[in-house]
Order: sequence, then structure tokens, then C-alpha cells
Amino acid sequence: MTAPIRLARPDVGEAELRAVAEVLGSGQLTMGPKVGEFECAVAGAVGTRDAVAVANGTAALHLALLALGVGPGDEVVVPAYTFPATANAVRLCGAEAVLVDVDPETFVVDAEAVADAVTSRTRAVMAVHLFGRPVDWDALRAVVSERVLLVEDAAGALGARSRGRPCGSLGVAGCLSFHPRKIVTTGEGGAVTTDDPEIAAAVRRLRHHGIVADGTNDIPVPGFNYRLADVLCALGIPQVERLEELLAGRERAASWYAERLGDVVGTPSAAEGDRHGWQAYVVRVDRRDELLAALRAEGIEVQIGTYALHRLGAYRDQGAFPGAQRAYERALALPFAATTTEDEVDRVCTALLGRLGRS
Ligand SMILES: Cc1ncc(COP(=O)(O)O)c(C=O)c1O
Repeated sequence: MTAPIRLARPDVGEAELRAVAEVLGSGQLTMGPKVGEFECAVAGAVGTRDAVAVANGTAALHLALLALGVGPGDEVVVPAYTFPATANAVRLCGAEAVLVDVDPETFVVDAEAVADAVTSRTRAVMAVHLFGRPVDWDALRAVVSERVLLVEDAAGALGARSRGRPCGSLGVAGCLSFHPRKIVTTGEGGAVTTDDPEIAAAVRRLRHHGIVADGTNDIPVPGFNYRLADVLCALGIPQVERLEELLAGRERAASWYAERLGDVVGTPSAAEGDRHGWQAYVVRVDRRDELLAALRAEGIEVQIGTYALHRLGAYRDQGAFPGAQRAYERALALPFAATTTEDEVDRVCTALLGRLGRS
């Protein structure tokens, strides 16, 4: 029996082990110096003035929206095909998540569709660089009125670039995730990136109970405990230092898949002039559910792409979204990581092509 192929395999090595051991030995497991060090590394990688480390990507979305003052009475435009946290964060602020359809080929929104969804109540648009593929930022900014805030869900897009500019630095705030399926991991973790010091300060307050860091220890607005522990920040520092190496490993694995599958199934790519972050390698296939079950039965851990929000109970009342529906039904995430080997890609592709009758 051949070994199973995992969907994802975080690339953590000696440097990460040493960094974690150092913190464990220091006795300062949280609220210590590693938080700031990690934040500097993340801000440096994204090119923003600030990065605020938080407990996970969902917390980053939630706090970014709260820091921007999004609340009851506001509408926020959200792609109908995304990880549900993008819309949940909007709802948890008391605002309305207005779904907009996606392009079933790229899995991301078209700027015109977003512009059509904007009303006088729209406060923000969640621009999701899904699976690490940058949205067409210039087109989006050009058609959406300046009074509407563009917030990036860059959960899977650390290192991705839109026309040379890093994802996470494009909007008023960027929200990153460091979940083990992401490009850089801390196990669980996230960050809000921004050039606006007031947004950064508000996120810092909200992640730590709402306490104002001015010596008064006052809590003018209640907050959360959404902090990221030092031990996890320490893990993230060498990960961010290795960002280019991690991206190169993902680019290599993506090119192996594209070589083998490109003539048969729809494979992902970035728009001309953009850099894909390759958070996941998600192909478009007919009979997705059948292929998913067959590959899993062969020990190949595949997964659906992500969720079509209009199919979920919480977001079911907004009508039909044919692009998101098609994306949902056809998207198949293949095993993918910076450490994926060519042999593994061969095995996955042989199995997939065989099931498609193209061996
Ligand atoms: C597009 C997107 N947004 C948000 C999140 C939430 O991140 P986290 O799992 O770190 O809370 C994810 C995680 O999968 C995601 O893919």
C-alpha cells in the first residue's frame, strides 16, 4: 500500500524548532517581545507601516471591520464564493453581507459585478484574493466609489502581487491568515496590515479587551482576547524570513501540476503582470464529487475548493449566484505545499487523468 498524500504539509524545520524552543525556555509564552518582532517581519513582507498579529484570519477580518467602524445599518459587499469567515465577520459586526457573484474560471469577483452591488449604504467591499490569486485591484478601485472602503481578505495571499504591489498593502486594511494550509504558518494566527496608524491602534485595542495603551488602562469600547501568543509569533518569524523560499516551492509544485493537467482540466493562473500566491492548487473539473471520492479512496487527500455562501443557511436568502454555484460544483483542491514533490504530483495526476479517461 502506497503512503497517503496529505492535502497540505506545512514546511517547518530547524529554524522554527529553535525559535519555539527559545520561547518555551524563556518562560514568556505570551505578550512578550516575539509579538512585535513578528509584526515587524510581516509589515516588512507586505510593505505596510503596521501589522497587528491576532489569533487567526477570522479575528483579523472581524477586528479590521470593527476598527473601520462597520456596524448595524451598513452593507458590505462579499463574494458569493469564499471561505465563510469573510461574510461571518461582516455579520458579527452587525452589518449586512451583500453577496456578489464570481467568475467561475478565476474564482474571484469581476469589478463591474461589485460596482453593480454598491448602494448608498455600502461601507466596504471585501476583496478576496481567493487561493492566492490577486483580484484585479486597479479595475476594482476604478469602478467603486472612493467613499467605499476596500478591505482585502488576503488570508491566502501573503507574497502575492497585483501589478507588482503586494496583496495586503492595497486596501485600507489587509487581513492575513497563518493557518497551516496558508503560505506562512503559525499553526493558528492572523494579522491586520495597514498604513493607517489609527486603524492599527484600534485593532491593537480590540485584540486586547479594548484596553487603551496610554497608561490609564481605560476600556472605552469593549474588546476581545484575540492575541497571538509569543510562542506562535516565534514560529512565524523564520517562516516570514523564508517567504521567498516557500513561495518558490509552491510555484514549482504549481508548474508540475500545470504541465501534466493543463491540456485536460482548467488549472489556476494569475492575470498577466500579477504574482499568484498559490495558497492552494484548485482545478476545475466536471463530476467533482465523484473524483473527490475516487481519489480519496486511493489515499490522495483532496478537498472541495471552498464554499458557495448562498448555499449556506446564514446566507441563503439572496437569490441565485450561477458563477459561485459553478465554481463550488467544479472546484477540486489537490494536495499542495511548498514541500510537494514531483513524485507526489505524478501520482495525483496519474490518478486524476486515469479517472478522466485521459491516462
Ligand atoms: C479566504 C479566507 N478568508 C478567511 C479565512 C479565515 O482564516 P482562519 O482560518 O485563520 O481564521 C480563510 C481560511 O481558510 C480563508 O481562506
